[in-house]
Amino acid sequence: MNLILLGAPGAGKGTQSKLICERHNIPQISTGDILRAARKNKTQLGQLAEKYMVEGKLVPDEVVIGIVKERLSESDCQPGFILDGFPRTTAQADALTDMLSELGRQIQSVVSIEVPKDDLVKRLAGRRVCSQCGSTYHVDFAPTQKEGVCDKCDGEVIQRKDDEESTILERLSVYEKQTQPLIDYYKGKDLLQTVEGTGEVSQVNQRIERVLQQ
Ligand code: AP5
Ligand code: MG
Repeated sequence: MNLILLGAPGAGKGTQSKLICERHNIPQISTGDILRAARKNKTQLGQLAEKYMVEGKLVPDEVVIGIVKERLSESDCQPGFILDGFPRTTAQADALTDMLSELGRQIQSVVSIEVPKDDLVKRLAGRRVCSQCGSTYHVDFAPTQKEGVCDKCDGEVIQRKDDEESTILERLSVYEKQTQPLIDYYKGKDLLQTVEGTGEVSQVNQRIERVLQQ
């Protein structure tokens, strides 16, 4: 299964990708996670990406396209993959089609997770992440058992720098301008399926699994 999860910041792409990966045994490719790891390790890529990410802007197309091209050629992607946060522009979507066709592959499904804007802001402002294992929490909707400590690995749970309110609004505006056009792009290719992203995490997951079986 070669899948793209589309959706605004906070729609639940990361949360749902992890569940789909476990069930279908395919890797999650999150460009956001790859870029954050590069920043943490202070690599050249991380230093380049930092200034865009802290402002809520997109990292240049050629940089993320290069990352995904390399990642998709790794052997664990053979049985399939979930793209979380890529593509985000039509240039990225076109590049994805080309790189997959070079590998003799194609996207089978694009699932767009739809959540109202007010909910997105609440989700992002309350999100907390483990600085060690990357597990995601929410102060109200999915709190840790012990404040500030990851339930899974005892790592320190922190707020992402781009989850401050002014950056959240910038990210949502960038999404509307640069990424939302991909909904029509994939509709035009007859690949788009839309899922309501509100309700319990497990309910959203059931909706996704249902459309994937169609
Ligand atoms: P990225 O890391 O991809 O961030 P994003 O798209 O802004 O998405 P998020 O990770 O914020 O949201 P999500 O949909 O994964 O939601 P989550 O599951 O965490 O990108 C970060 C930055 O990297 C970008 O701004 C850009 O600079 C750069 N970048 C990355 N990819 C790029 C690309 N392709 N091109 C250029 N630049 C790129 O859930 C959010 C919260 O809600 C959590 O707290 C969660 O617990 C909670 N939640 C989830 N589901 C539910 C539910 N059903 N009910 C209640 N709460 C829920
Ligand atoms: Mg995410």
